[in-house]
Amino acid sequence: MKWKLSVLCLLCASVCVKVCVGEEEEEEDRTPVEMHGMVTSPLYPKPYPGNVYVEWELAVPKGYRIQLSFTHLDIEPSDDCYYDSLMVIYDQKVLWKFCGQANSADGNHPGNEAILAPGNRLRLIFQTDEGNPGLHKPLGFSLFYQAVDVDECKEGEEVGKTPPCAQLCLNTLGSYYCSCHHGYDLRADQRTCTPSCHGGEFRELQGTLSSPGYPEPSPHGLQCIYNITVDPGYLITLNFSRDFHIEHIQDHQPSCLYHWLQVTIPGREPLKLCGGESPGLLHTGSHWAELEYHTDWAGLSRGWRLHYTTQRVRCDIPNGIVNGHVTPSLPEYLYKDYIYVRCETGYKLMKEGKEIPKFGSMCQSNGQWHNSLPECHIIDCGDPMHLMNGNITFISEVKENQYRSVIEYRCNEPYYSFDKNYKEVQLTCEADRKWKQASNDVIPVCVPVCGRPKHLLRSSQRIFHGELAKRGEFPWQVLLNAGGRGGAFVIAPQWILTAAHNLMNVEKQEIKLRVGSIVVDELLKTRPLEVDSVHIHPNYIGTSGGRKDFDNDIALIKLVNPITFGEDIMPLCLPRPDSQYPTGKLGSVSGFGVDEKGSVLNELRYVRLPLVDQAKCRASIDAQKSVASDISDFTDNMFCAGFPEGSKDTCQGDSGGAYVLQEGDSYWAAGIVSWGISCGKADVYGVYTRVAQYLDWLTKTMEQNV
Ligand SMILES: *[C@@H]1O[C@H](CO)[C@@H](O)[C@H](O)[C@H]1NC(C)=O
Ligand SMILES: *[C@@H]1O[C@H](CO)[C@@H](O)[C@H](O)[C@H]1NC(C)=O
Ligand SMILES: *[C@@H]1O[C@H](CO)[C@@H](O)[C@H](O)[C@H]1NC(C)=O
Repeated sequence: MKWKLSVLCLLCASVCVKVCVGEEEEEEDRTPVEMHGMVTSPLYPKPYPGNVYVEWELAVPKGYRIQLSFTHLDIEPSDDCYYDSLMVIYDQKVLWKFCGQANSADGNHPGNEAILAPGNRLRLIFQTDEGNPGLHKPLGFSLFYQAVDVDECKEGEEVGKTPPCAQLCLNTLGSYYCSCHHGYDLRADQRTCTPSCHGGEFRELQGTLSSPGYPEPSPHGLQCIYNITVDPGYLITLNFSRDFHIEHIQDHQPSCLYHWLQVTIPGREPLKLCGGESPGLLHTGSHWAELEYHTDWAGLSRGWRLHYTTQRVRCDIPNGIVNGHVTPSLPEYLYKDYIYVRCETGYKLMKEGKEIPKFGSMCQSNGQWHNSLPECHIIDCGDPMHLMNGNITFISEVKENQYRSVIEYRCNEPYYSFDKNYKEVQLTCEADRKWKQASNDVIPVCVPVCGRPKHLLRSSQRIFHGELAKRGEFPWQVLLNAGGRGGAFVIAPQWILTAAHNLMNVEKQEIKLRVGSIVVDELLKTRPLEVDSVHIHPNYIGTSGGRKDFDNDIALIKLVNPITFGEDIMPLCLPRPDSQYPTGKLGSVSGFGVDEKGSVLNELRYVRLPLVDQAKCRASIDAQKSVASDISDFTDNMFCAGFPEGSKDTCQGDSGGAYVLQEGDSYWAAGIVSWGISCGKADVYGVYTRVAQYLDWLTKTMEQNV
């Protein structure tokens, strides 16, 4: 069998060898291929007839040879088997021509040994002449054929033949393949071997590479590829050993003409190395490098060796964070390092105009941070809570609602003041974004200051005629119109106090309350205060059934909207539980009522009247009662004020106004103008509702109608 390897075969792997074997012979004939079979002469085991010519074509699979084993051969012997014979033909040539009998010198008997054909096909021809003269009638032949594997390896060792493999040959059924000793690789021809490059892929973060066989000189005909590929976050550095030698040709340009080590780094010109000097350190700046070592079939290179290491990619040092800092603080930041940014107290993290709860960023393989740095912005406490009837001023240099800003709350003095004992309250914008007081957290409220008019009456005044009031002297005064003209007074932002008799049989909508001026014409130009509800003392009787009973002549009016106090409007203080009514003490009464001539006033007037002893007052009223019958009883819920000589008094139209007493520098509502027999008479006093008797009722009513 011949070996012919097609061009195709050179390129393919060793498994292919089988397919390629004996391709040439293909399609020559269609003889059935068998692994074994029998062939006998005609009529066997009876003697064969004369004048026969029989042909057999035998075939076994490619890669095998045919082996013939005769079980019997008995053919008329003749010289050169001239008359009768069995011919074995291979490839148009007669290999053997058999005749004769076993153990006979005549003819050419194959003997008992099996005979091996040189290929996988044979032609057998059995031919005889007309007859056999002798007594013995030969029987012909019987043979067994089978496919026998060719040991191509052994055959190659025979003298004068080319061994099929350069190093190791391994026979297989119907074929063979070549392999190499350790340290060598099979070349593409599937036959010859080359020293192993130990090349391929290097994926570790460090490693060692050297030329094949190093430190022995490099073999010829090398084409070694080394591919170093690591995680993209690492940069490769090659460190060549000092012993470096690659043949270089002095006379040629370029000198690395036949032997070279080419280093390829992405984005750079490939670098061809040769000569006797080590390149030393080579920073590739890349996570990928390819080395190709080439030797041709001549020359000498003693080889090379290198150790490669990797360094993590470096990211910029993150800085420039104003009012914040980066943790951890490192001298350099490398691939996969993680940083956080924290702002100083009072600052918040901002990114792209939005506040973020926290910030972290990682150094990426491309040397960039995966998250761009945030900024630290000062925190903002927002607008401080509005202070009703007060205002807010910045007392810090920075007039914004930001960290460490300080504001001051002040009530609108002198008409309002804090409900506690302080004049101003300072708040600081703290890191938790809240306005906080240094001492306590209660935001104070501004409460109206009562009974402290801007202009105090000159108490030295000893003239007791009715006087024109000045602006701001009786700022609690209310002009009441409810059927007729009356008085009332402010005691709280939403509460007006008056006499019950002013409001009897009057609808809520008919009640017109006006404040803020001492001139009636001016007042009538203003919108009346809107009434929410009316609360007449439940025990007030008044003038019903022809009887007069002015006990409990007190009523409260609740306003829809609170009044804002100022110079012209201010509440009057209520009595304190321990307030006294000392006889002879001067109080003041103001009103828009009628004067002594009986004409309705256009301007607020007032009189100053002393408190009268209760017994004296009762006696005066009892005296009147003896003359007139329709006079109310005098009770402990009332008091009198006035002069025994008369002339100055409160009168119609003043009803419901306040009788005020001064205590310290403020006025309190001691009485409500209630009733009298007639105005300005001698020995007759004006009667007032004693407000101090009604503290409980007032408090309760106001609390229940918030
Ligand atoms: C080297 O290895 C890398 C990663 O496996 C691959 O992308 C590249 O194509 C290889 N280079 C060569 C020349 O084989
Ligand atoms: C390079 O390798 C040599 C030993 O061959 C060693 O002494 C030297 O420190 C290495 N250089 C670096 C930068 O690793
Ligand atoms: C707050 O009060 C101060 C002092 O009383 C005054 O100067 C300032 O104008 C007031 N501001 C406002 C907004 O009312």
